[in-house]
Amino acid sequence: MSPLRVLTGITTSGTPHLGNYVGAIRPAVRASLAPGAESFYFLADYHALIKVGEPARIQRSTLEIAATWLAAGLDPERVTFYRQSDIPEIPELCWLLTCVTGKGLLNRAHAYKASVDKNTASGHDADADVTAGLFMYPVLMAADILLFKANQVPVGRDQIQHIEMARDIAQSFNHLYGEHMVLPEALIEASVATLPGLDGRKMSKSYDNTIALFAPREQLRKQIAGIVTDSKAPGEAKTCEGSALFEIYQAFASTEETTALRAAYAEGIAWGDAKQVLFERIDREIAPMRDSYEALINDPGKLEDILQAGALKARRLTMPFMATLRQNVGLRNLRSSTETASAKSVKIAKPTLKQYREKDGLFYFKLVDARGRLLLQSLSFESPREAAAAIAQLQKQGSQALAGLQDKLESVQGVSAEDLAAALMQMD
Ligand code: TRP
Repeated sequence: MSPLRVLTGITTSGTPHLGNYVGAIRPAVRASLAPGAESFYFLADYHALIKVGEPARIQRSTLEIAATWLAAGLDPERVTFYRQSDIPEIPELCWLLTCVTGKGLLNRAHAYKASVDKNTASGHDADADVTAGLFMYPVLMAADILLFKANQVPVGRDQIQHIEMARDIAQSFNHLYGEHMVLPEALIEASVATLPGLDGRKMSKSYDNTIALFAPREQLRKQIAGIVTDSKAPGEAKTCEGSALFEIYQAFASTEETTALRAAYAEGIAWGDAKQVLFERIDREIAPMRDSYEALINDPGKLEDILQAGALKARRLTMPFMATLRQNVGLRNLRSSTETASAKSVKIAKPTLKQYREKDGLFYFKLVDARGRLLLQSLSFESPREAAAAIAQLQKQGSQALAGLQDKLESVQGVSAEDLAAALMQMD
């Protein structure tokens, strides 16, 4: 059986805050370290365009969110970490799914309905300021998920409906074209708390009550000083229930630490002192990450390379799957016979890299496509190990490895750079 696939996306429309860290980033990074699952994390920048019309903000947020996830311990070697807009198969699949999605299904989406209700209540046209992007959001999200055949999608409660819609859309597609789509499930972590913000309501950008995750130390201290408390004087017993300060502390502290603060509350700790305790506790967890965050933010080229490598890894899955899907819906090469390419049975054979030994006693490899056409031919290697190392490089880096292997490869006539790059991504 194939391993469990877990996938989640992060919209690149803001700066990560403590609520994002506790509610999404920290649990996801921990889950990615568990053995057995194959994890996919991506920066949902196409989604960000639905909300944000400022190009500089999209770019800045992408940089900050990428740096945050890596600083928080996500290991791009272990997981597949990529940017949505680097995967052209996502919008391509989005269109195929659009064509099997009922408009009525989208009419019922909470996010769209909320906009319509607001407009109606204020006497405006129902669709005033509603873009087709907002309306289509659930289909794009379904494409994100279905393209990777994800089984589980960790999301907040507000996203459950979108996962259900992805299932509905997958079923419509399968009904028409055969069982190609895996039906995903939402994964709601019961133990993951929503963090209260400065004013005690859920920490959220829309309430403007957030504490930035990687603010400099002194700024973090200031923000924590701004948490709303009641007016009890030092010496008066404080209640933990309903105390935003206490709840935030709990999200970072061990059980013993939490018990200690509970006792301090009962003994009448001054709010100023309680805030100092909270500040030190958060800073202890964040400080080491803050340093790597700063280093990454100041090295955008490195982040870009990591995302490009992630896209390459992702596209080795999405390109062949998309090729199969194109076949299945009838977007086909006219040379392929309509008889044999029956809609439900097409399987796309992949290009293969073959290593072999010639009569000269030396070692070689070549890349051939499914029909046996030669795409890439190596020169000789003294040992099988050297040949294998070159193959490994091609498997890992795809066409990016070609420049470095230039003097080890023979040129093959009639094979374009694009064909070769595509084949290198699809090969086994
Ligand atoms: N819509 C999600 C959110 O706002 C982000 C997202 C986009 C996503 N595509 C996804 C989450 C796919 C999970 C899977 O939080």
